[in-house]
Parts: sequence; C-alpha cells; structure tokens
Amino acid sequence: MPATPETAPAANRGRPLPREGGWGKGRPVSLRLRLSLLLGVLNLGFLLVLLALLLGNQRASIAEEITAAHRVTVQLLGTAAQTSGLTGPAPLVMETFLRRLGRVRANEIRLYDSRGELRYVSPPSHYKQSRQAPEPFARLMTPQLEATGFDLPGARLLIVPDASRAVLDAWDDLTSLVLLWLGFFVVLQVSLLLFLRHLLRPAETLLVGLDQLAHGRFATRLAESPVSEWRELTSGFNRVAAALERGQAEQRQLVLTTEALAANREVTRFIEAGIEAERKRLARELHDELGQSVTAIRLIATSLARHAGAGAEIAAGAGKINEVAASLYDGVQRIVRELRPAVLERSDLAAALEEIAREWRQQHPDIALTLATRGDCSHLGEALTLAAFRVVQEALTNVLKHAAARRVDIELCRETGTLGVCVRDDGRGQAAPAGMRRGLAGMRERAALLGGTLAAGAAAEGGFCVTLNLPLNEKETPSS
Ligand SMILES: Nc1ncnc2c1ncn2[C@@H]1O[C@H](COP(=O)(O)OP(=O)(O)OP(=O)(O)O)[C@@H](O)[C@H]1O
Ligand SMILES: [Mg+2]
Repeated sequence: MPATPETAPAANRGRPLPREGGWGKGRPVSLRLRLSLLLGVLNLGFLLVLLALLLGNQRASIAEEITAAHRVTVQLLGTAAQTSGLTGPAPLVMETFLRRLGRVRANEIRLYDSRGELRYVSPPSHYKQSRQAPEPFARLMTPQLEATGFDLPGARLLIVPDASRAVLDAWDDLTSLVLLWLGFFVVLQVSLLLFLRHLLRPAETLLVGLDQLAHGRFATRLAESPVSEWRELTSGFNRVAAALERGQAEQRQLVLTTEALAANREVTRFIEAGIEAERKRLARELHDELGQSVTAIRLIATSLARHAGAGAEIAAGAGKINEVAASLYDGVQRIVRELRPAVLERSDLAAALEEIAREWRQQHPDIALTLATRGDCSHLGEALTLAAFRVVQEALTNVLKHAAARRVDIELCRETGTLGVCVRDDGRGQAAPAGMRRGLAGMRERAALLGGTLAAGAAAEGGFCVTLNLPLNEKETPSS
C-alpha cells in the first residue's frame, strides 16, 4: 500500500512521499507522454511480431509456389524436348514451340544453340512490369532453387525459376501493412492525446483549486466530474475546503471572542480598581470622619458625667452614651479593617492573612483555623497581594455560608515563579448552590486577570478546597 500522509511513519512526516515509478528523475514526465510512449512501444512490438509471422508465411508460400510452377514447367518442356526432333531439326522445332508458348509463370526459359549462343529467352512478365522488390528483401525471400536444363540434339534448353513477381507481391503486401499500421498509429495517438486532455482536465481544475486554497480562498469549490474517480477526488477536495472554511470562520470567531474577552478583562480590571479605590476612600472617610465624631461624642459624654452639677441620672445616661459610642467605634474600626486591612498597604500577604486568622479565631472559636506559610510572601506587589487576599476572604466567607466545617486550613506557598494559595475545609464538600453565586466567578476572574488559575470543588478526601495559582514575574518580585 502506498504511504499516505496519515499512514506514513512519524519519522517520514514532513518529507515528500516516495516518487512512484523509477524513471524521469530530473524533469517530471507528463502522463500523456508516458501513455503515448507506452502505447507506441506496444504497437511497434505488435507490428514487429506481425511482420515476422507474415514474412515467415510469405517466404514459405513463395517457395511452395515457385517450386510447383517450376516442376510443372519442367514436365511440360521435358515432354516437348523429347518430341522436338521428330518433326524437324530439334532447335528449330523447340524455338518455334517456345515462341508460341510465350512466358510460363515464375520461370524464365532460355534456348542455346550448339555453340552456346542464346537463341531464345522467354519474354518478361507484364505483371508489375519494370518494378522490383528492394535487393535485401528479394535476397531474403527468394527460395534457393536450381535451374533445370535439357540437352537436345544441337541445342540446350534451360528453365530458370523466377520468384521476382511473387517477391514483389510480398513486398507490396508488406509495405501496405506498414502504411496501414502507421495510419492507425497516428490516429490512435491523436485520439489518445485528445482523450487524455479531456480526461485530465479535472486535474488542472484541481490544481487551480489547490492554488486557491494555498492563497487562503477557502470558499473555492470544484464542479463534480462525471468520471467516478475524479468525482471522489473533487468531492474530497470540496470537503477539505469546507472544513478549512469552517476552521477559518471559527478562528475568526475565536479572535473576536478573545478580543472581546480581553476588552472585558480590561473593564473588569478597571471596575476592580474602582472598587478598591472606593473601599480605600470609604475606609478613610469612616476612619477620619465617623471615627473622630464618635471619639468626640465619647469625650463629651465623659466630661458630662464628670460635671460637678450633674445628677446621678445624667451621669448614668452619659456613661451609657460613652458605652454605645465605644462599641460604635469598635464597629467602625472593624468595618474599616475589612474594607482595607492596613497591612495590605505594605503588600505583605502573610501579615494580612495573619490578621484575618486572628479575627476569625476571635469571632468563630468553634471552627479551628490554621495558617501555614512557605517562602517569603511579603512584597509580592499590590495587585497580586490584593487578589490572593480577596480570594482567601471569599473562600472563608463561603466556609461560613456553605460548609458547616469544624476546621479550615490555609496554605500559602511561594515557589520559584509561582504563588500558591489553598483554603481547605472539612465540611460537607460541594453544597447545593444558592443565591447569585458571584464569589467563585469573581475569584476566577481575579486569577485570570493576573494570568493565573483557580480550582474550586469538593476534595477527594472530603470537604471543599479552593486552590489559587498565580505566576510571579518581575512586576511581582520584591523589587517592585
Ligand atoms: N466551602 C464550601 N463548602 C461547600 N460548598 C461550597 C463552598 N464554597 C462554595 N461552595 C458551593 O459553591 C457555590 C458557589 O460559591 P460562590 O461563592 O460562587 O457563591 P455563593 O457563595 O453561593 O454566593 P456569593 O458568593 O455570590 O454571595 C456555593 O453556592 C456553594 O454551593
Ligand atoms: Mg460566596
């Protein structure tokens, strides 16, 4: 089976397939020429075999014919020679007889007198007069027959076999056959060329089509050929072109989608930056405005309670105000920390997570939380620190909302080129989804914005696991 691009061994891929046929190593030889030559050689071989057979037959038949004619003539003239002296002088009687007899087929008759002079020679044949077969051909075809002589009283009769007419006939037959063959050969070659041109036209169309494909014009289609083999080829071409066209459309769509995604990411990044800026502003306002006002209220309440003329009731009211204001202050401080932990300003992820852990242990003492850090996780850069921080924040919120867990483990790991964060709980695993479910999507979006990945789901050993991997590049190195 010839090698095809699919079946060729891997080592041969990319190399041209082996050429079929052994000749024509330099310039390629056209199929038309190959077929013409093949047909020509076969035809010529056929002609040569035919000629050999014909020549053999002709040779045998000439020999047979000339021998028979010579034998008859010898018998006739032998009888005439025996009786020639009965009615007069033998030479004269024989000459008269011969002149009357004229030419005898395929024989030349000569009469010599006693001195050896030629007295009579039979007239030449009128058949194809003055024409002779070419000498080499005549030599090949002429049978080797001896002349027969009769001695008469005072004369000698010689009968010489003459195959020249029969040989000429054979020559004429031969030349007619060769001419006929030549005519047939020319007609055959011309029809073959015309037929091949017609037959191979789809190949030219196919080449044009392939050229179109090579130039990226995948909408090209070929008309179906009435020849079944070509039809398979053209429909194969059309299928390939259709697949390429589909691929091109999909690629175009992919480019559009990628562009839209990139634009989307840009918008998301912009929104995230806006949200962070707003959180920062809110935290500052709450801290500066509300924090100071609450402090002022506490100071006023304290001074009111200490006032000399104030009654016990007013002093108790002022103490209550002080108490409420203190808890309001704590609440404001907590909101400020949640909005924008101060450690984030220093891009110290480990410290920011330590703070989260501390708060968690205070607020949820029944759910054990561990934090393990490997590698230096400070100075990772603002974007990266913030993303990792928010992912852990959302993962912990989810633990509270969905997991019913008794333990949460946070692992932070900085290795060459990667920052890994893993939040794992021992809760119920994947809980039934509820609500808007923006949390995991937001985590993934944050990871993608920084070229990283986020995996979340029920862990094989139980519980739920969120794993974030972010690539570290120059921007996130300590120098930034
Ligand atoms: N720790 C967890 N344990 C069990 N299931 C979880 C856990 N974290 C997330 N899930 C499941 O994954 C779903 C998607 O979480 P995601 O944070 O995206 O949405 P949500 O928490 O339901 O809503 P949102 O975060 O938008 O307020 C959750 O609804 C829940 O079913
Ligand atoms: Mg959530």
